[in-house]
This record gives sequence, structure tokens and C-alpha cells, in this order.
Amino acid sequence: MEVIIQPSAEDGTQLAADLIAELIRKKPDATLGLATGRAPLGLYRKLVDMRLDWRQVRTFNLDEYVGLPGAHPASFSRYMDEHLFRHINIDRRNAHVPSGTAADVPDACARYEETIRLAGGIDLQLLGIGTNGHIGFNEPTSSLASRTRIKTLTEDTRRDNACHFDAGQLVPHHVVTMGIATIMDARQCVLLAFGRAKSAAVAAAIEGPVSAMHPASALQLHPNAVYCLDDEAASGLTLASYYRWVREHKFAVHA
Ligand code: F6R
Repeated sequence: MEVIIQPSAEDGTQLAADLIAELIRKKPDATLGLATGRAPLGLYRKLVDMRLDWRQVRTFNLDEYVGLPGAHPASFSRYMDEHLFRHINIDRRNAHVPSGTAADVPDACARYEETIRLAGGIDLQLLGIGTNGHIGFNEPTSSLASRTRIKTLTEDTRRDNACHFDAGQLVPHHVVTMGIATIMDARQCVLLAFGRAKSAAVAAAIEGPVSAMHPASALQLHPNAVYCLDDEAASGLTLASYYRWVREHKFAVHA
């Protein structure tokens, strides 16, 4: 794993934006896996400002709430539209967000996997991390071999995401999420984590044991996983000064 610790979220975001821009410039028909939430907001702003050519790019989002129509203000489909898709020249037919409202959700999940496969797999998968270590919405005890499917959210995650819903509105209990194996199939994974609230989850993911109890720890088994952290998110890492030294001296950290 390459662990990159930057002084601020702004710097960590710039790094991820540069990685994605470089990929799109080198491979105009790249396939990106995208995330929602707070962590990638600045990244999407930067990507929009970079005025890249998205005409041939394909995207697959990690997850969506079950039962929320795409127009719902808290749906991830709406989030992607507001923060990225409507500002770039992507062909909307190539911008995929899992459906949480399909008549047959398990069948839609199987088709999502198949569409990713037919696209040739994901070149770069963007990730955030939950305070409980989830990636996508693979909550603790998710199978490390899981594929796109319906998951039940933990109370912690529902609480963490309640701010995206109006007061009194119920945060759905169920989501559709890419599985951990789906994420692990991506050729590169780039995880963004900023702020002290993520420090324990980040430390467990990078330096703890590989465990279904901490889904992000599965990335220890990925051959090309990059963590873009700020100082606060990195504050729980035992080897933080080592990762900084390695970065300063221009070597990648291969765990
Ligand atoms: C979002 C997703 C989640 C978030 C995670 C962190 O598509 O899959 O895993 O990345 O919950 O969310 P933020 O960045 O809002 O703290």
C-alpha cells in the first residue's frame, strides 16, 4: 500500500485529482469507480475545474440507498449529478449508479456486476471510509468475497449519514453496494480520508489485521492501493513518520 500523508485535506484532494486526471489523459476511455459522501466533494470540484475530456469515460458508483428515487435530495444519483455529472461532458449512458428502486433489486445488482465486467473492469476505484471501517456500504462482517448486493446499514452509519436527510426523515436501513470483491477487482484503489474522526478507522485499516470486522483492511491484499490522508486522519498511525519519510524520498511504500 502507498500511504500518502498530506498537511491538509486540500493537499490530499489535489493528489487524488492529479491521479484521476493523469489516468483520463492517458486513457480517454478509462473506467472509474466513484464514491459519494463528504470526502470526495473537493475532488469533484477540482476535476470539474480541470476541464478534462469525459466523453469516453465510464463511471460506476459504489452504492445507493434502497427505495430512494434518483431525484431524492439524499440519493447518491442526485449527489453525482449535482457535484460532477452535470458539470462535465460525460455521456450519461456511461455514468452508472446502482439502482435502489429497480423492480427486482437482486437482479439489478447482478446486472451491475455484469456491466462492470463488460466495460473491462474498473481502472481506478475511489473510496472513502466509514468510522466503522466500511468501504462502499460494506459494513463490518461483510464477506471479503462479496459482490454487489443489498446490505443493511448499522446504526452508526445511519447516524453518520443523517445529516444528508431533512430533520425527521428516516435514513433508509437498506442500500445496494458493490461488494468487497468487486472493489478489490479494480486495478487501482484510491482511498480518501480526512479529519480526526477517521483516524481510528484508518489506523485499523492500514496497520490492523485483515478482518471482515474492518472491511477497509481488505485493501492490504490489494496490489495497488493508495491512501490519501491528511495529518488528522493519519494521527492514529504508528508508522506515520515512516510513511512521510518514504514519501519525501520519492519511494512508494509497498507493504
Ligand atoms: C459513499 C460510500 C461510503 C463513504 C463513507 C465515508 O459512496 O461508499 O463508504 O465513503 O461512508 O463518508 P464521508 O466521506 O461522508 O465521511
